[in-house]
Amino acid sequence: MRRGSLHGETDLSTVTFLSPVQEEIKLVEERMRIQADDTHSDLRAALEHLLAAGGKRIRPTLGLLVGNMLGAPLEKLVTLGAAVELLHTATLVHDDLIDGSLLRRGMATLNARWSPPATVLTGDFLFARAAKLAAETDNLALMKLFSETLATIVNGELTQMFTSRGLINRDNYYKRIYAKTASLFEMTSRAASMVSPANEATIEAMRDFGYQIGMAFQIVDDILDFTGDQATVGKPLGSDLLNGLVTLPAIYYAEGNPEDEDVLSLPNGGWTNNENMTRLVDNIRASNATQKAMLEAEQHVDRALARLDSMESCAEREALENLAKYIVDRKV
Ligand code: IPE
Ligand code: IPE
Ligand code: MG
Ligand code: MG
Repeated sequence: MRRGSLHGETDLSTVTFLSPVQEEIKLVEERMRIQADDTHSDLRAALEHLLAAGGKRIRPTLGLLVGNMLGAPLEKLVTLGAAVELLHTATLVHDDLIDGSLLRRGMATLNARWSPPATVLTGDFLFARAAKLAAETDNLALMKLFSETLATIVNGELTQMFTSRGLINRDNYYKRIYAKTASLFEMTSRAASMVSPANEATIEAMRDFGYQIGMAFQIVDDILDFTGDQATVGKPLGSDLLNGLVTLPAIYYAEGNPEDEDVLSLPNGGWTNNENMTRLVDNIRASNATQKAMLEAEQHVDRALARLDSMESCAEREALENLAKYIVDRKV
């Protein structure tokens, strides 16, 4: 299968949480693909390149599983899934330009091949189409939630850029990962329950389920930046510190080694020094900091699993349990 095989050995077709919605994910992808119709040929080629690169499609999978479990109409879930995945894709297009990353999903990024202006505009186009899809759910509360989430993500990226580089601070870290990642997972599962015949308590349980796995997801992404296998992950690793991003493994290391000269240099711009940061990355890898960070990710997954306790047992609930567990087991 196309997805996953690009990233080395991880074959996502064997991932059990995907199976109940595999066919429905194809509808989501088709819905995303037609957003490029009637556009300039270069833009269409860029969008086809982005879609062909695949990705785990974990956000639309989350929306489909939650919505199917709660009895939502499929059409709304496909529309929501396409909106969310296009929004995600747009943020990645801009994120890779901001981070100067040349590789994503095992393929060249847009900014590796195109100028910054063309890359920015392509991202803008994707945001526009994502908003249109959100509107096509015909649900005003959902549209408001969607645009609030986009504002949260962009505000988070700006905060990270202007005030968080080199900053060793837990609170700041949790706020950042909420804004850039968990907010979209939270929005997805909340929105999927909003288009379902679900009561307030169920919507709240699913909102928190999305929040918890979203927090775990970004913590694991930050761990993979230290411990991942580049060919499998399909994007440049060891790069967060070089971008001034002090993530949870680095925070644990700093707490355990407050006198480390590379740690001390971080708030003063030491992260701009390639050689020192390579040394710091090696020291963090050799320490127990990534294991400590993983324990936190696992705690979020446990809280997510507890939220499923009140749901009736069904194939979707089981798939959601597997999805939550996969977040901390994943290699990609
Ligand atoms: C990458 O997200 C960006 C983060 C929020 C860490 P994914 O790991 O879901 O990326 P794809 O869509 O599978 O490539
Ligand atoms: C990106 O976070 C999250 C966004 C939503 C922009 P990262 O910068 O950690 O994602 P990767 O590691 O490049 O995928
Ligand atoms: Mg990045
Ligand atoms: Mg990352």
